[in-house]
Amino acid sequence: RAQTLLAPRLLAWYDRHARRLPWRAPPGTAAQDPYLVWLSEIMLQQTRVEAVQPYFLRFKERWPTVEALAAADIDHVLTEWAGLGYYARARSLYACANEVAERHGGKFPRTQDALLELPGIGPYTSAAIAAIAFDVPATVVDGNVERVVARIFAVETPLPRSKPELRDKAATLTPQKRAGDFAQAMMDLGATICTPTKPKCSLCPWNDACVAKARGIQDELPRRDAK
Ligand code: ADE
Repeated sequence: RAQTLLAPRLLAWYDRHARRLPWRAPPGTAAQDPYLVWLSEIMLQQTRVEAVQPYFLRFKERWPTVEALAAADIDHVLTEWAGLGYYARARSLYACANEVAERHGGKFPRTQDALLELPGIGPYTSAAIAAIAFDVPATVVDGNVERVVARIFAVETPLPRSKPELRDKAATLTPQKRAGDFAQAMMDLGATICTPTKPKCSLCPWNDACVAKARGIQDELPRRDAK
C-alpha cells in the first residue's frame, strides 16, 4: 500500500480522536503558541501526560509569556516545579526563557538547529517544537513512535540497535503539511491504540497496512536486546 496514503488516514483519525490536552489547540486549527509548546514539551520529557497537566496550567496562569517566566524569581519557578522531579530541568527551563527573552526578542526560533542551541532542548524537543509550533516537517520520535513504526513495518531488529532504522522509517511517514498534528497523532496512536500490550488493532486507522498485524506479531514488537 502506498505510504503516501498513510499520513492522511492518521490525520483524519486524529481529527476525530485527538486527546484534548491543555497545551494543544484543537486539530487543524492555527499554529500553537511556541512558548506553551516548549513549556509542555519540557515538562513531558520525563513526566507522564496526566501528571503534567495541573503543572502546565499553573505555569501558564502564573507566567503567560516567555518574558514573564524570564522575569520571575528562580526560587518561585523551582517552588512551582516541585513534584515534577528533575530540578535540573526547571533550571534549564529558566535559563532557556532568559535566552529567548534576551537574545531572541522573546520569540522562539523556528528551526530545529537554532532550537537545539537553547538550554534544555535536545534532538527530541527541537523536533517537537519545530513541528508542533511551526509546522516544520520534522520527524518527532519518542518511545510511542518507535513502537508504532516497529509494528507497521515489522522491524525485527531489537531496540536500541534499531533506533536509526526506526527514525528513517518514521521520516518516510512524515507529511509536508500538518507535521505538528501528525507528530501528536503518532503519540496518541501509541498511547491509546498501539499500546505496548494488547494493542487495539480493530480501532487502528492503519490496521490494513500494518505488517506486524498481518504476521500476527504485533504484541512482540518492538523487540528489545536483553539488558
Ligand atoms: N508527550 C510529549 N509530547 C506530547 C504531546 N505534545 N502530546 C502528548 N504527549 C506528549
